[in-house]
Amino acid sequence: MKADKKADILKLLRECGGYLSGQELCRRFAVSRTAVWKAVKGLKDEGYQIEAIQNKGYRLLASPDALSVSEIKSRLQTKWIAQAIACYDTLDSTNLEAKRCAQGDWENGTLIVAKKQTAGRGRRGRSWESPAGGSLFFSLLLKPEIAPDKAPMLTLVMALSAAEGIKEATKTDCGIKWPNDLVLNGKKICGILTEMDTEMGYIHNVVIGTGINVNMKEMPPNLRQNATSLLLERGEKTVRSVLLAAILRHFEKNYEVFLQTKDLSRLREAYNRLLLNDGREVCVLDAQNPYEGVAEGINAAGELLVRKKDQTLAAVYAGEVSVRGLYGYV
Ligand code: BTN
Repeated sequence: MKADKKADILKLLRECGGYLSGQELCRRFAVSRTAVWKAVKGLKDEGYQIEAIQNKGYRLLASPDALSVSEIKSRLQTKWIAQAIACYDTLDSTNLEAKRCAQGDWENGTLIVAKKQTAGRGRRGRSWESPAGGSLFFSLLLKPEIAPDKAPMLTLVMALSAAEGIKEATKTDCGIKWPNDLVLNGKKICGILTEMDTEMGYIHNVVIGTGINVNMKEMPPNLRQNATSLLLERGEKTVRSVLLAAILRHFEKNYEVFLQTKDLSRLREAYNRLLLNDGREVCVLDAQNPYEGVAEGINAAGELLVRKKDQTLAAVYAGEVSVRGLYGYV
């Protein structure tokens, strides 16, 4: 049985909470009893605990923290994002795979997920450590009709959506370090990398890749000072598919708002509420002319407004420079 049907059965079992008869499942999905049995067996093999009792039917007892197509589909609440999904145990990078998918004409909104990356990419040419065992690595392939210079704003749209998704799925408030790091208790838990394929002022596609430290029990020594995981901060595991579905739902909503104006004018307030740099002293690491000032939120273009010592207001463009807090990581 295809992943779609397995996802449908999973969703129904989860929603119903109790027993669903084999007959009812056959009727709902217009498939044979054998097909239902096979799907249930497939789900059990993937680690789902499903009880089967004669004359009562099937009941879902427990789900693993799986990142399969069926699991993700069974949690999705989006209208068009992630209609096409590809999941891998190991990839070089979900961003690279999304770019390959773009060559193969995969649709707008395609979602790529990996449990582990061997060549995870970070911003500014850095790498992104991506071991298996508890993180969330995913990329979205988008084909927006916007000018290339607007694309960096999508990183901020994802930062806002990821923070909202984390809040919804885990009741945890994280903040944003401009432009796009999510921070919890002073340490980074999420990074976002947007890459695009353009030609003569036209965007072929944009890939937004997100990495979240979810259930990592400890951080690698080289990252420990500035990075943490949701598990380390909350002391509780998070079901990654639930978190992913929440983020995608918020992203779809925010992305549609973004597309109406092709800027952040209608998302700016929500973003600024989460912005940790707001009202703080920052150092703008401009290669030619570094300077200090106080951050005053973002403008509609996603630039960070910085009040300089001489009281003039500078708008800092994300692609151009980086900003460091004067005290600590934020
Ligand atoms: C950063 O440097 O803060 C951005 C890190 C982005 C990492 C994610 S993990 C999923 C996607 N695939 C990649 O290779 N990178 C992004």
